[in-house]
Amino acid sequence: MHSMQRYGTILQEVNIMRKHIKGNVSLIGYLDWDLQKFHGDDFTIHNGSSQNAYLIEEEKTILMDTVWAPHQFEYMENLKKEVNLAKVDAIVVQHGECDHSGTLPALMRERPDLPIYCTANAVKSLEGQWGKHGWDFHVVKTGDELDIGNGKKLVFVEMPMLHWPDSMATFLTGDNILFSMDAFGQHYAVGEMYADLADQDTLWNEAERYYANIVSPFAPMVTKKVKEITAMNLPIEMICPSHGAIWRNDPLKIVEAYGKWAADPTEDRITVIYGTMWHGTEKLAHAIADELSLKSPHTIVKVYNVDHTPKDDIAYEVFRSKAVAIGSPTILNGVLDSVAAFTYYLKSLKLMKGRKAAVFGCYGWSGEGNKVLRQMMTDAGFDVADTEIRCSWNPENDDLAQAAGIADALLEGTSAASDDAPAAGADSGKWRCPCGYVYDPAKGDPDNGVPAGTPWEKVPDDWTCPVCHLPKSAFRKVD
Ligand code: FEO
Repeated sequence: MHSMQRYGTILQEVNIMRKHIKGNVSLIGYLDWDLQKFHGDDFTIHNGSSQNAYLIEEEKTILMDTVWAPHQFEYMENLKKEVNLAKVDAIVVQHGECDHSGTLPALMRERPDLPIYCTANAVKSLEGQWGKHGWDFHVVKTGDELDIGNGKKLVFVEMPMLHWPDSMATFLTGDNILFSMDAFGQHYAVGEMYADLADQDTLWNEAERYYANIVSPFAPMVTKKVKEITAMNLPIEMICPSHGAIWRNDPLKIVEAYGKWAADPTEDRITVIYGTMWHGTEKLAHAIADELSLKSPHTIVKVYNVDHTPKDDIAYEVFRSKAVAIGSPTILNGVLDSVAAFTYYLKSLKLMKGRKAAVFGCYGWSGEGNKVLRQMMTDAGFDVADTEIRCSWNPENDDLAQAAGIADALLEGTSAASDDAPAAGADSGKWRCPCGYVYDPAKGDPDNGVPAGTPWEKVPDDWTCPVCHLPKSAFRKVD
């Protein structure tokens, strides 16, 4: 027997079991207690996770997604215990990322004729990852329905860029369940299955940490989609995401939380971040934190060494912070690569603009670090204060005393007003979609009826991104 098969057989009864949810819906996903990293080694997991897949057994038998390939043997073996594979009528693939589609090839090897319901972009992502096998794709758009018998239907809702172009959600009428895919999920292994039974502090911290690191770059889309879901007046009684707990009691609470986090997640919180070589910049960081706490006792102040804490944990703090102090010693005419990498990550998250930042750092002879760091934080969307600490060699008392000025600068005018909304008015520059596509007036989009030379303001209002099909309103001006 293949070693993975043996491993799968040992674990199958433990981590994949049918768990009844509601009506004729069961959870058949993988509860991943031991997951440490996600997206390769990019994202740190603290409380396990799950790949939630679902089984709906009405007159038609429908699978909702699969699990990550390392767990394919457990998924397939347990699925066969629950249903006759030959009798499955269709699979809905809500998103092509490997953690949900990784077992699709194994499933399709056994049922190559199985109809797959997914978005047009999911056909691209599935074939791009798993190859072209002539699978029976049925492309769906928002509002399309699939009758599954017993008076129930699946209604599909495209969710482009939440968080891939191919993402969608599915609403099951009758049971009134919204299968929301990655949206509203958490990387949190919840044995209790339901949000109302889970540890609430961990649940909400993981939900917001997930939003901050995975969803926040697409905040304009969140705002739009929350409004759209609300306007559809779907009688949502339960939200079943593809990671973490199922929202059963007051399920719209997480939808409302997404609306708030997309609009303004900041709290009375300031984060101090630093890298250090010989502890001089670390002393400055601690002095700044002390001054912040002295001057504003109710403000939550936290201090992180970027080399000792995962970037996603620090980013979660920054996400909630009204201001940030960040420091690095000067090295090789710049800053420590760990500090530079963190500012690069902050920039990629496209956090709400206008938060205050201040820079600090020690140097021996040339001292360019502050200037470099100031530019990096400006590029990441922060309003960087003129006040800084630029300390020659180790901090003396007069250097440490400058921490008070940094604290004043960060505590002053930290309303963090958002200017993240798409700019309005006439402009003929380039505009970027959340998916990364850039509209260039010089090139236009001739394949979709926009001739080269068409300025942005002349692009028709019903034109959509040629890559992910988001509307024009989702685009932001390229600086
Ligand atoms: Fe959970 Fe985007 O995959």
